[in-house]
Amino acid sequence: MNLSRRKFLQTSVLIGFAVATKKGWANKLPTLAIERRDLFPQGVASGDPTANSVILWTRRPPAKDSLAKKLIVEISTTPEFKKVLAGGTAHISADSDWTCRFLTTDLKPNREYWYRFIDEHGFASRVGRTITAPSDDSDAPVRFTFVCCQCPNEGALNAYRKMIFEDEARPKDQQLNFVLHLGDFIYEVTWYAEDNPNGNRGRRIRDLYKFPQGRKVSNFHLPVTLEDYRTLYRAYLEDPDLQDARARWPFVCIWDNHEFAWAGYQSQYVAGGGYNAPAQHQKIFANQAWWEVMPAMVQQPGNPKLVHFIAPVVVDTPMEQFNADGLSEEPNNLLAIHSLKIQRVLRWGRNVDLLLTDNWSFRSPDMSSDDFDVPEYPRVSLQVPFEIMNYGRHYNDDNPPDTIRFKGKDIPNPTKNVHAQTYLGSEQRSWFLEQLGASTARWKIWGHGFGTMEVRSDYQNLPGELGSQWPKDAGYAVIDNRFLRDKDIIFDFIRDQKITGFCVVGGDRHAFHAGLASKALPPRKYEPLGVEFIVGSISQQTLFEVMEVTMKKDHPKRVLHLIDQADGKVIPSMNVTALHGVLSTLKLQETGDMEQARSVRNVDVAPHLSLVDFGGHGYALVTATSDQLSTEFVCIPIPFERSGRPDGGPLNYRVVHHTRLWKAGEAPKLEQEILEGNPQYCI
Ligand SMILES: [Fe+2]
Repeated sequence: MNLSRRKFLQTSVLIGFAVATKKGWANKLPTLAIERRDLFPQGVASGDPTANSVILWTRRPPAKDSLAKKLIVEISTTPEFKKVLAGGTAHISADSDWTCRFLTTDLKPNREYWYRFIDEHGFASRVGRTITAPSDDSDAPVRFTFVCCQCPNEGALNAYRKMIFEDEARPKDQQLNFVLHLGDFIYEVTWYAEDNPNGNRGRRIRDLYKFPQGRKVSNFHLPVTLEDYRTLYRAYLEDPDLQDARARWPFVCIWDNHEFAWAGYQSQYVAGGGYNAPAQHQKIFANQAWWEVMPAMVQQPGNPKLVHFIAPVVVDTPMEQFNADGLSEEPNNLLAIHSLKIQRVLRWGRNVDLLLTDNWSFRSPDMSSDDFDVPEYPRVSLQVPFEIMNYGRHYNDDNPPDTIRFKGKDIPNPTKNVHAQTYLGSEQRSWFLEQLGASTARWKIWGHGFGTMEVRSDYQNLPGELGSQWPKDAGYAVIDNRFLRDKDIIFDFIRDQKITGFCVVGGDRHAFHAGLASKALPPRKYEPLGVEFIVGSISQQTLFEVMEVTMKKDHPKRVLHLIDQADGKVIPSMNVTALHGVLSTLKLQETGDMEQARSVRNVDVAPHLSLVDFGGHGYALVTATSDQLSTEFVCIPIPFERSGRPDGGPLNYRVVHHTRLWKAGEAPKLEQEILEGNPQYCI
């Protein structure tokens, strides 16, 4: 643990930007300018604030008769720009798609600032607002929201409108410091209306863009070129709700899968429709387009200034061998996955260190086999084969079995000599542990694409006909569990180092989850070592919505996911199945009453979970003080269409979980408070 977090932060601050604040701009009168939002069609943004700096962003593309190559940046303490506090100039060009990233330094901690960009013709962007982080020794409470999974092409971003409306209504000293975006900022896989005249699984397709090149697979299209990825971001950033949010708060962003590829690993592109191809070029294009639009303090190894993104020269090459970590050392792959490094740590005073990881670039290929699938039970895996294949050669303390028992047969273990599944890779995992161990903040918050919590159900307890096809000795039905060895190593480290205040905030699952973070669940040792919150999607379809649209009414296992009511409404029993077990779900079907359902719960299924909602959209709001962390889920209905209301439309529920900062050796506890609405099927 000799690399202190402070040293890391200082190093990252020095890593370059095209321009930085010029002293001598202070007290200048503002430049005479006319606001022309049409010339800045993607608006403005800011990101990765520190106590004295923040990155400012815009895009000023050539318009019909107006080309700009230079932008003036002005920073003021008032939105009217009576006086300029700081500023500078920046050159823009087609090389970075006319985007501008400006590092403003010498700011004061925990302050609100306004900024704008003015081109050489005197045309100005809209005015943006940003906020610096509190000073390193500050005890000021930190407030932020975290979000994920937005697709304006098939839904509306009403969650941002609500977030803005509610923040404007708060007293100044209680407003948000920043927004954490956990990825799926874009969905690269795109359904066009022309191929899907009835929409996509019940969603209306907007056709916000078409790829200049693209690749059609099945009934959807995938990006291929740099221009394809840029086209996506440009279209998304024209969304008025997203644009207003980026203009109001600094954003801190990491990517999830869809910023590059629907599925896949390292530089391999995997998508539905059987598409699977080496894609080193595409990985680099995806990284470059991301870098161009995200105001993020990130690095490109070998390019310390990072004034322009340098795209390494690669040849799309299959990855044939993987080392003990599941990493392909194929040179083109290494060039592609190292072309942008987004793992980083940001600090908000003494209360929050935010640790951010890249969960996709170092991911191992999945070597598990579908021999152990149970199609009779949709959307779940068998615990025993799942765990054996996930741990690979490391199963059972490096003693994996030769065969796996399945439906009365012994099937050869396909992963006996294979790497454990990893998403961090060994190098990043070591870096993460180093940062976590060195953190002196009260709350060590891990911004994690998809979270670590296991979700499962006790299908082994299904009675009669319903359970007759569940293989004996298969254990629980795994609904979601990932990367067990990474989890073991990280949680063992937290326990051994007696780290407190550990909190995971995740996305990607298109569901709300709140609970305690533990390496394992009963009958193994259940030992909570942190708290964890997964946020529902901004707009992308939830599993409940997909099941409602796709699961047959007479499917024999329907009750485990959906319960049909006389009035045509559907209860999301899938939440109950995961939270309380199958007997609770059957009791709910019989009585329609959640209290009776909870009275027969299996306490071993999910001792760690206090809320599960597979059907919720919205955002999560964190308040971190010196002795408490509160996480509020703000859940809204499915955003089929844009709300015309200034508050972003109706609310389903608002639930907050409080955690007192625990001492080393103590277990964290969650206290639930329902503030609005009735999330009865989620708790
Ligand atoms: Fe997603």
